Amino acid sequence: MATIQLKTQVPGPKSKALAERRASAVPRGLSHATPIYVAKAEGAVLEDVDGNRYIDLAGGIGCLNVGHRSPGVISAVRDQLDKFLHTCVQVTAYESYVRLAERLNELTPGNFPKKTMFVNSGAEAVENAVKIARAATGRPGIIAFEDAFHGRTMMTLSLTSKTHPYKAGFQPFPGEVYRVPYAYCYRCSYSLKYPSCDLYCARHLEDTFQRVVAHEGVAAVIAEPVLGEGGFVTPPLDYFSTLIEICHKHGVLFIADEVQSGFGRTGALFASERYGIEPDILVSAKSLGGGLPLGAITGRAEIMDAPGPGGLGGTFAGNPVSCAAALAVLDQFEQQDLRTRANELGDHFQKRAREWQKRWPMIGDVRGLGAMQALELVQSQDRREPAGDETKQVTQYCYEHGVITISAGSYGNVVRLLMPLVITDALMDEALDVLEGALKTVYEKKHEAQPV
Ligand SMILES: Cc1ncc(COP(=O)(O)O)c(C=O)c1O
Repeated sequence: MATIQLKTQVPGPKSKALAERRASAVPRGLSHATPIYVAKAEGAVLEDVDGNRYIDLAGGIGCLNVGHRSPGVISAVRDQLDKFLHTCVQVTAYESYVRLAERLNELTPGNFPKKTMFVNSGAEAVENAVKIARAATGRPGIIAFEDAFHGRTMMTLSLTSKTHPYKAGFQPFPGEVYRVPYAYCYRCSYSLKYPSCDLYCARHLEDTFQRVVAHEGVAAVIAEPVLGEGGFVTPPLDYFSTLIEICHKHGVLFIADEVQSGFGRTGALFASERYGIEPDILVSAKSLGGGLPLGAITGRAEIMDAPGPGGLGGTFAGNPVSCAAALAVLDQFEQQDLRTRANELGDHFQKRAREWQKRWPMIGDVRGLGAMQALELVQSQDRREPAGDETKQVTQYCYEHGVITISAGSYGNVVRLLMPLVITDALMDEALDVLEGALKTVYEKKHEAQPV
């Protein structure tokens, strides 16, 4: 029996009424991918306030790799609720904070002494990684990438690339941020092709130190191993090691922002493992908390210890309920092979998507690592003009037919998949059938409208 059940046209009357209340109570700057209001969720399924049931391929933007209401997470949170909710770790500490730090120190790539601290979000984790890198090197500069997304606070907006809607109107941003092209092979900034390019974009960092900012003024290069909001751009597997070699030659640290790519999403606990790299600092958040807010900064012990006592922290940072949830998330990764599952889901999607690509040339690129998979939509396969409107139509068709998907990309023309890794094969296929229907409908509509 199908899991998707739509009892009303969506959005239903109750969701519509809530959307009206939201419009008068909440600023419009907070956009919404779908106009539905959730009543409950389990695994990879959501039910809205009108009783409609959807398959969730967005996972609250990649925060639910272990699934909605994972039983281990729920039970750990319940236990913690019976003990205490907040004390502030800087006032009276608790063991779960320390245990979680120990486990992340062990699980993150790199066989060297590490330390970890916790915050409330991905952006706050990136902010702290920058503070720590500057304190450790005594240098101000940070090099970030085109199409990067690191958050919405002022420093992270400075690191983020996309102008509208993220940055425009919010200037000035903190300085000493320099931007270079990413390894976006489908839209190579140097019009080269991998592997004959010999990773020109990575090697070009030497040139940046020569022509843009002196290396002795640069604390760190920060990169997402797979771009998240930037469109699930997946660099060649030897890209980051080349980049890091140049960083280290010049005493520049490498920060991996694994906020979206972490916790099994790419078929390894961290995407850095897929690239065979050991970041000096690794930033994580999203799925770490299994649905609760938590961010982590893990790094080489001597780097993490650079700021003096009192230089780091935050009132709610590393809240005990979030720490309990995160420990349960890590237990689930020990008990359940979610990494293999991520690869299976990714392979299955790729197989179907490559068939779609042959039928509908609107699909320019199919790419991803593990279960971090995406379709980049274009007006034509040879000219590659971004198809942003068509992407919106695809995601709209999906939610109207019971599947929650979200878009990404600097041109808004990427459909990305962030389903919980506990999704069953049957559910995944039911959702992919809807996505297939969306692509077919949008493609056929576009070609009806444009006589050839
Ligand atoms: C790679 C990356 N870094 C940082 C952030 C910011 O995280 P948060 O929204 O928790 O502040 C995000 C959010 O999407 C992200 O994808």
